[in-house]
Amino acid sequence: MGLWTRHHLLLLLLSLLVCTCFSDPSDELCLTHLSESLLDPTKSLQNWTKTTFSNPCSGFTSYLQGATCNNGRIYKLSLSNLSLRGSISPFLANCTNLQALDLSSNALTGPIPPDLQYLVNLAVLNLSSNQLTGQIPPQLTLCAYLNVIDLHDNLLTGQIPQQLGILARLSAFDVSNNKLSGSIPTSLVNRSGNLPRFNATSFDGNKDLYGYPLPPLKNKGLSVMAIVGIGLGSGFASLVLSFTGVCIWLKVTEHKMALEEGKINHLMPDY
Ligand SMILES: *[C@@H]1O[C@H](CO)[C@@H](O)[C@H](O)[C@H]1NC(C)=O
Ligand SMILES: *[C@@H]1O[C@H](CO)[C@@H](O)[C@H](O)[C@H]1NC(C)=O
Ligand SMILES: *[C@@H]1O[C@H](CO)[C@@H](O)[C@H](O)[C@H]1NC(C)=O
Ligand SMILES: *[C@@H]1O[C@H](CO)[C@@H](O)[C@H](O)[C@H]1NC(C)=O
Ligand SMILES: *[C@@H]1O[C@H](CO)[C@@H](O)[C@H](O)[C@H]1NC(C)=O
Ligand SMILES: *[C@@H]1O[C@H](CO)[C@@H](O)[C@H](O)[C@H]1NC(C)=O
Repeated sequence: MGLWTRHHLLLLLLSLLVCTCFSDPSDELCLTHLSESLLDPTKSLQNWTKTTFSNPCSGFTSYLQGATCNNGRIYKLSLSNLSLRGSISPFLANCTNLQALDLSSNALTGPIPPDLQYLVNLAVLNLSSNQLTGQIPPQLTLCAYLNVIDLHDNLLTGQIPQQLGILARLSAFDVSNNKLSGSIPTSLVNRSGNLPRFNATSFDGNKDLYGYPLPPLKNKGLSVMAIVGIGLGSGFASLVLSFTGVCIWLKVTEHKMALEEGKINHLMPDY
């Protein structure tokens, strides 16, 4: 029994040592690159310094403001409403234990890095109220635990990736007030089983987005084209029809004439 207790004590001591003394090199990479890509004009992130990045966690507590740790790893980053500028570093992907990323209500620019796909534990992604551009990376589908995707109030373009509908745990989805276009994926609005379906509030404020639960595509330029198309099409169709009619008539008369001729030939005596 004594031996077991000693073993347990040793193990506990060792794990404590691992938690407090040896930080994770990929977390350090992640934080270093993130702080380089973010601009902090109001000096909100006072203690985001290089020395802290090498050891951001002490077990369950973090030395970095806005960061939360779990077992010596960064598992939550909440840097909302801090007047941050700059872009989102793709190296955020190195914080592999990250479960929640909230960079909302800042002035961040540039794209949403597709590298976020490597955050396989990510459950909450809130990048709302920034000036992010580019497309919504379809690779986000690989973050199977995503519960929340909030990207409202940005400058995102392109289509909403169809694949996002397969995220089984998705319970909050907001891409309102962007510059998205195309039809809304039915996989998000008409989901199978009892998965939550997202209504118009999730999609409002995107000029070129259409389809249920928003109104269908109605483009004046296109309807004029459609009318012209229908006109030309029916004109062509009637032309083909009358041509075929004439052809048939000619064939019939030819046949009749041939018959008549045959009759005449038949009546003619042979010499
Ligand atoms: C950094 O700031 C946070 C909150 O502002 C504080 O809890 C933490 O102790 C600070 N860390 C250091 C190393 O100063
Ligand atoms: C954002 O921060 C400013 C101060 O920097 C504060 O006045 C405002 O209420 C905050 N907004 C939210 C939504 O927390
Ligand atoms: C860190 O992230 C970058 C960008 O995704 C990737 O290229 C690199 O391989 C990662 N490094 C480690 C050690 O995970
Ligand atoms: C995302 O952040 C904004 C601003 O901080 C907040 O109002 C919103 O509720 C968050 N989204 C979700 C789905 O929690
Ligand atoms: C939505 O799904 C239901 C069945 O769950 C189906 O009957 C309906 O046609 C679907 N609507 C659209 C617009 O796909
Ligand atoms: C959309 O759904 C949300 C809950 O997810 C609800 O609060 C809101 O009232 C709904 N809006 C409409 C227009 O149905």
